[in-house]
This record gives sequence, structure tokens and C-alpha cells, in this order.
Amino acid sequence: MADVVLGMQWGDEGKGKVISALPSDWVVRVNGGPNAGHTVDGTKVHQVPPGIARPETKLVISAGSVVDPAKLVVEIDRLEAEGYQIKHRLFVDVRAHVISEWHIREDRIRETSRGDKAIGTTLTGNGPVHAEKYLRTGKQIQDSDWETVLQDEGILLARTDELLRSASNADEKIVLMVAHGAMLDIDYGTYPYVTSSHVSVNGALAAAGLSPWSLQRVIGVAKVYTTRVAPGLMRGEVSEEIAEKIREVGNEYGTTTGRPRRIGWLDLGQLHDVAQRNGVTELYLTKADVLLAAGVQPHVIRAAWGESYVPEPVPSWQEVSFNDANMRRFVSMLRPYSAMVTALGTGPDPQDIVRR
Ligand code: IMP
Ligand code: MG
Repeated sequence: MADVVLGMQWGDEGKGKVISALPSDWVVRVNGGPNAGHTVDGTKVHQVPPGIARPETKLVISAGSVVDPAKLVVEIDRLEAEGYQIKHRLFVDVRAHVISEWHIREDRIRETSRGDKAIGTTLTGNGPVHAEKYLRTGKQIQDSDWETVLQDEGILLARTDELLRSASNADEKIVLMVAHGAMLDIDYGTYPYVTSSHVSVNGALAAAGLSPWSLQRVIGVAKVYTTRVAPGLMRGEVSEEIAEKIREVGNEYGTTTGRPRRIGWLDLGQLHDVAQRNGVTELYLTKADVLLAAGVQPHVIRAAWGESYVPEPVPSWQEVSFNDANMRRFVSMLRPYSAMVTALGTGPDPQDIVRR
């Protein structure tokens, strides 16, 4: 059976950490490529799926992902040097599309030519490689010169959907990680300030080649505040003074680009929209410790997505715990907007999590 882990905001909700704490036989990266970045166990991963910290977990990059093979090899060598064994346990689908030097150049040229309407992409070639995939002029790994290079590097090339279906039939636990965040979805995000793939549960199943009946839980991940790394709509953006406090304590700088992230209040209207669209069954709330440590009172937006809104203050919790009265009130207020909160993030390490 498969669980999906989906970020409900604009990425950087702490999915990497959540996945490190979930038991899994397989962790699958379903969409995107080197544009994503996750901090896991104190190290950064971009293309390699989180799940590196448990040596017995098999890692997969699905057919629906895009791959920059040159960067992937460098990333694997770095992780191996840090003591993680990645070779001979990372499977990459032979049908994943290859990002070339030209896609990266085109990404840069397009961004520059948009002037002040630039999307703020990660400049990793993500838009152009997807454009070519859908134009049907792209290159899958199996048709590229990279096929043998990757194999020589100890990367296992496979038809990964077949592996995952047998694993699912054998009752093994699969965790599908959707990269980025649901508000960056190509269809339902804040177009054109979005990424070029489906950031959704349905997209995850399509990309991994699994049937809807293999699905068990849909774990939505949201921070107790909102961040966004690039331009585009974000409701309830806070003043720069408050943003600075949260940014410093929460280390809110892009994992891939190092850019300072914009900060807003928790948007319940947005969570509701994402939860409905994706059938979220439970919610992991992350970075609940950050507002406390920064001395910032939490606020929420209750208005439906697309309607006018006024952020409302809510009583601060004294402790990040389900035993704290204000935290209990806070999580019960969230439930009708999303799902039952089953875990709270209390710090950056994989073990910094408390469960209901
Ligand atoms: P692209 O995916 O590089 O084309 O960038 C498109 C938009 O998605 C930009 O606003 C990026 O900052 C954003 N983006 C892409 N990947 C991530 C991610 O993993 N976390 C947060 N934002 C992302
Ligand atoms: Mg990130």
C-alpha cells in the first residue's frame, strides 16, 4: 500500500523531515527534478528522495520525474562521502526525461526576457524540459547517452512502476513524495507563478504508475505559517519586521537557491482548497516551535480561498504539545479546514516530532 506525502503550501513545509520519520520500504520521488530541495537528517537532498537515513529503504525516481544526470551523480557522490549508501539502492525509471545544458540555458533566457514578470524559477531547466516532454521532442533516459554512465555509477535503471506494483502486492510500504507544494501545481496553483508539473495526489499516482486502489493515507504537511520563495499571490504576508524574526529562527532560506523566503500567516482557506482537491486524510503541522521561539503570536486566515480576508490572532501555545490547552484549541480549529492533526513538528531533527 502507498501513502502520499503532499505539501499544502508553496513547498518547504518540512516533507523531507516527515518522510524520514515514517516507516517505509520504498520512498518515491514522483515529480519535478533538481528544482526541489529537502533538508533531511541535517543534509540536503535535491534529486535523491528523502529516506536516505534508513539504509533498508529503497529509493525511486519515477517516470514522471525529470532528471539532471550530471547533478545526480555529483549529489550521490556527496551523500556517499557523508556516509549514506545510495548506490545500488536508488532506482531511476528509464522513461524519466533528461534535463540538458540547453534546458538550463533556456530557463535563464526566458526568465531574463520576462523582466519584472519573471517567475522566479530555480533556473534548473525545469520548465523547458517539461515543455519538450509535452512537445514530444524530449529525451528519456533510455534513449540518451546517460544510460550507461548512470549504470556505471551504480544507479539502478528500471521500469519502476512494475517494481512498485509488486511491492504493493507483497504488502510492502510505499511512500510517495510529491515535490514542491500544492499551490505550485501547474493547473490549480497561482499560474503562471507555478512549477511545470502536477503537485497533487492524483498526479503522484499517475507519475508513479500506481492505481488509486493502492492508496492508503494522504498526509498533508503544512507549516503553522506560510512561506513562498518567489513572486506570486500569497495572502496575509507579514511585515518585514515579523518576517525577519521568523526567518532567522526558522531558517527560512531556499534549500536550492538560498533566497530568503517570504512569510505569511497560516491560510486556512488555502488549506481547505488543497485538502478537498487531494483527499487529505491527516495533517502534519510543522515548525510549531518557530513562532514560540521567535516570540510571534500566531494568526490565521479563515476566509475561503479567493475571497477577501482579515488575518485573526489566535492564542499562543506555551509548549509544542497536544497537552497544551491553546495548542489543542488550535488543532481543533484546523480540523474542519483540512483533517485531523496527527503530528506536530517540534524542531529540525527527524525525531523532533510528537504524535497525537
Ligand atoms: P521551477 O520549478 O524552477 O520552474 O520554478 C517555478 C516556481 O516554483 C518558482 O516560484 C520556484 O521558486 C518554485 N519552486 C520550485 N520548486 C520548489 C521547491 O521545492 N520549494 C519551493 N518552491 C519551489
Ligand atoms: Mg525545499
